[in-house]
Amino acid sequence: MKIIILGFGAVGQGVARVISMKKDYLKNKYELNPQIVAVCDRSGAAICETGLDEELLIQTKNDTGKVALYPDYGHPDIDSLQVLDEVEYDCLVEVTPTDIDDGEPARSHIMKSMEDGKDVVTSNKGPLALSFQDLADCARMNGVEFKFEASVGGAMPIINFAHETLAGCEIESIYGILNGTTNYILSRMANEGSSYEQTLKEAQEMGIAETNPYQDVEGIDAACKIVILANSVLNLPVTLKDVEVEGISKITSESIALAKKEGLLIKLIGEASPDALEVSPRLVRLGSPFAVEGTLNVATLKTDLADDVTVVGKGAGSVETASAILSDIVSIWKIRK
Ligand SMILES: NC(=O)c1ccc[n+]([C@@H]2O[C@H](COP(=O)([O-])OP(=O)(O)OC[C@H]3O[C@@H](n4cnc5c(N)ncnc54)[C@H](OP(=O)(O)O)[C@@H]3O)[C@@H](O)[C@H]2O)c1
Repeated sequence: MKIIILGFGAVGQGVARVISMKKDYLKNKYELNPQIVAVCDRSGAAICETGLDEELLIQTKNDTGKVALYPDYGHPDIDSLQVLDEVEYDCLVEVTPTDIDDGEPARSHIMKSMEDGKDVVTSNKGPLALSFQDLADCARMNGVEFKFEASVGGAMPIINFAHETLAGCEIESIYGILNGTTNYILSRMANEGSSYEQTLKEAQEMGIAETNPYQDVEGIDAACKIVILANSVLNLPVTLKDVEVEGISKITSESIALAKKEGLLIKLIGEASPDALEVSPRLVRLGSPFAVEGTLNVATLKTDLADDVTVVGKGAGSVETASAILSDIVSIWKIRK
């Protein structure tokens, strides 16, 4: 299977790493031989139609910051859309940054690839939160697979879990902690009694919160995930503007202490159901499955046959997120081989 990776940051490099780590396993278990034939970042591309060396790709990126400096096969003078035009491949892995204004450049990458008859795997929330139905229609019309497990909850299984493991159940609603940064901040505020501002600053110093934390702390990132779950699992054709959003920036250490006295925690919860699309701080009981600490994500799917099913896992991380991308690649391979 020939793969193009667009974007070579934390997740793109994670994908190269897991492909390198799992070569023998994938061959023995699935007869799958993934070859990375092109990788793009903002410097250009590395292209080799017989397969790039994954470890050399990661080393080149770490040493120089540019995949275009990959020895002998670097192309500083080419952009990602040209790469999609000129390189022969089977599956696009789209892992450029999430943009929630217009979903670009990912939206154009994904659309072009699908229109060219290629399967697509992405972790990018932007195009999914803004125009899920257009992308799903485009995939259907072109007869290609379009998979995005990593876009919600990183390594926490939820979308394919709902479609495959819970295939016989109707899913009525989903309720979850879908943003690791805010969960980390709220957990530390609860454990240490620290202020929101101080805890955010420390999370930024540790690299857990972004320099510009707006989308995480104001609930936008969780809202994107609610939109993806509403569309893909609940079949609700909604977009980001349909979600009512309130973040955590107004939560005080006093309100957390007050809740704690009553055996409660404040968590940023996202809910998707036919009656509600919402992200807001809510109270959960200490000791409940929602009392997860640190950057963990958790979600409960309310079903007709199996009652409530709760999943928990790492919502971010290079290799962790890449594990979900790899599982999408494997499931496409099972369909195509
Ligand atoms: N990190 C996680 O744990 C995680 C978890 C779940 C989902 N996601 C999503 O996965 C995606 C990737 O995340 P990340 O953490 O890997 O981001 P990142 O570290 O910021 O990497 C983004 C990469 O995209 C490249 N890029 C930007 N514009 C491009 C363009 N026009 N053409 C080609 N490449 C371009 C960047 O190039 P340069 O290197 O040259 O700047 C960089 O290599 C995002 O959409 C994010 O929301 C991330």
